[in-house]
Amino acid sequence: MDTTYEAVGGMEFFQSLVAAFYVNVERDPLLRPLYPPDLTDSAKWMTLFLSQYFGGPGMYSEIKGHPRLRMRHGHLQIGVRERDAWWQAMHDAVIASGVAEPYRGAMLEYFTTAADWMINHDDQTPTET
Ligand code: HEM
Repeated sequence: MDTTYEAVGGMEFFQSLVAAFYVNVERDPLLRPLYPPDLTDSAKWMTLFLSQYFGGPGMYSEIKGHPRLRMRHGHLQIGVRERDAWWQAMHDAVIASGVAEPYRGAMLEYFTTAADWMINHDDQTPTET
């Protein structure tokens, strides 16, 4: 097993991880409105992106080009609250997947760092009164 992708179960693993993540998004009143009404495409791109990131086939970049994730989130206002809600939805999906260590830790570490990096909006600053 050379890659995390292979070790955790390949495309099927990422499909079910992402499905569980979007069930959590559906239920989250802060996150849900940020996503398009139909989550099918979001789930597809997320599955291809994560598979590629963790060492699987490079389909995401073949179709979409360089991931440029921060840019692809640029139209969204992502502050600490959005980051936290997103992280919780993904954390819970990772735990529910039952993925074993060291992969679980590696995934959570990646999601923590990358979710931080997606913050593009300071929602902590009170607006002027
Ligand atoms: C580890 C961090 C993250 C990763 C790897 C990630 C990955 C992705 C990917 C691959 C897409 C599909 C983009 C595309 O190719 O079209 C996407 C869309 C999206 N992401 Fe993230 N994301 C992350 C963090 C966040 C955070 C913190 C939020 C905060 C709310 C967020 C909200 C969204 C939304 C709302 C969309 C749908 C955008 C649209 O279709 O208009 N993401 N994300």
